[in-house]
Amino acid sequence: MKKFTLIISAIVITVASFAFVIENEKSFSAASAIFSEEPVLPGTPYAYSDITVPQSLEAPPNGGWGSVDPVTIDDAIASITDDGATLGRVLFYDEKLSASNDISCGSCHNQSFSFAEELQFSEGVSEATTRNSMHLNDIMWFSPNTMFWDAKQINLKESILLPLQNENETGVTDVDAMLHELSQTTYYPELFEKAFGDATVTEERVVSAIEQFLKSINSFNSKFDKVLEGEATFNTIEEEGRELFEQECVFCHPSSLGQLGIDFGFFPIVFDNGLDEVDEDPGMGEWMGDPQFNGHFKPPTLRNIQFTGPYMHDGRFNTLREVMDFYSDDVAPTEWGMIPEGGFDFTDHEKDALVAFLKTMSDQNVLLHPKWSDPFPESTDTHTPSIEGVKMFPNPMYEHSLINIDSWDGESINLSVVSMNGQVVFTDQFQSNQYVLGRNNLAAGNYVVRLQSDKGTKTLKLSVQ
Ligand code: HEC
Ligand code: HEC
Repeated sequence: MKKFTLIISAIVITVASFAFVIENEKSFSAASAIFSEEPVLPGTPYAYSDITVPQSLEAPPNGGWGSVDPVTIDDAIASITDDGATLGRVLFYDEKLSASNDISCGSCHNQSFSFAEELQFSEGVSEATTRNSMHLNDIMWFSPNTMFWDAKQINLKESILLPLQNENETGVTDVDAMLHELSQTTYYPELFEKAFGDATVTEERVVSAIEQFLKSINSFNSKFDKVLEGEATFNTIEEEGRELFEQECVFCHPSSLGQLGIDFGFFPIVFDNGLDEVDEDPGMGEWMGDPQFNGHFKPPTLRNIQFTGPYMHDGRFNTLREVMDFYSDDVAPTEWGMIPEGGFDFTDHEKDALVAFLKTMSDQNVLLHPKWSDPFPESTDTHTPSIEGVKMFPNPMYEHSLINIDSWDGESINLSVVSMNGQVVFTDQFQSNQYVLGRNNLAAGNYVVRLQSDKGTKTLKLSVQ
């Protein structure tokens, strides 16, 4: 967020109206003064627990390979409350959860990328992470004992605690001090009370609330799901991709076919997909203490994979097409020989078909819905009055982005989109708390979106893919 602010302030056209407070305090007490901002939340909580599970979760299309028991589905959904997930949302995005007070879970798990990050490695409290950040959609349905790239034998709760305490992720070394700080804010006591019945802030409650928020992130509004429900059909190339996928990929990626909650107990789905001849990152071999498992990693869900690049545990591939080139031509010998040596030797058309099929598993709703967005107003502009509570996502934009104005109460808003060389490329006027900014004919690149009303202005940086 800091860097983002700096980039905007460098934009000449808006410099005159900006003055940013840029601080990097390390102690908890000094922090409350800087981050005195409160989250902007809806009066009635969003419906997090309202999850309609597609039939394919119970009855997978390919003959039952890893279906989810309906009882498990009901229990999983019942463990989410709207107030619990609301608290989880605030915690997920709150920089108070980091030792340096400038990193939140949301810094490395970005809604615009289905909660992954566009960088190969993320910037942590003190240094870059050594693995690529993982997308967090649909994690409720994962085998509980395969978390992180190396499939550590831990459950979701433990996987929330780990980054919290990891000295380089959020780096909270003194959990009690952090919990105390949360209890001293203006907003947490009420949020804890709504979620858990009283205002006591405990580590267990923090983890439980974040867990509820994460469980609510499902991507069931995809074309893939609609096809399985009989409401849509794959076009020719998508169908070709589906057939290839079922032939070559489904053994290691069963979760992508909708049945995500596979718990084999004795057999976590963790494989070596032949990325390297010599493994620099031993993955599962490290914690197993067995070199036989070097180079074995967890294949994450392929739902929403279109948005989560770069790909693989070390983020080595930027696009899905590069991933297909790898599976086609560059596969190192794998121990169990599940991929032919060298690769599948796909034609260009087959690679396109696989990518087209993978994209049917996209649900833009995950990127767009305000219920999963950052509730903290991001502007620290102290001079010009600012329109409060403005969010724009996804950013980068693929086809369109939603602008959401929580503070709107009836005023008319002028919108302009300005290119980096200062040219106004688009203007509009609207009177609503939401505006869908279409891509129109915008070329890929960076833009400034400026909103102006009688309340003030708000300037956001937009990147178009
Ligand atoms: C500095 C960046 C960073 C921050 C901050 C961060 N994460 Fe992560 N997260 C990662 C990376 C990198 C991985 C993969 C780590 C690995 O496999 O070793 C990951 C993995 C995960 C996973 C495992 C997903 C899976 O499918 O197995 C979960 C869950 C998760 N993070 C949740 C959180 C939560 C909750 C927070 C806030 C308390 C958080 N993360 C903060 C970078 C970050
Ligand atoms: C032998 C098992 C295996 C096969 C077969 C396989 N994969 Fe994978 N796949 C994996 C593993 C393991 C990973 C994670 C590897 C890593 O990061 O080190 C992965 C990662 C991926 C990723 C990147 C995921 C991310 O979040 O970065 C994509 C996309 C993918 N596979 C697609 C495919 C497609 C398409 C096929 C068929 C052509 C296929 N895979 C075949 C095991 C396999």
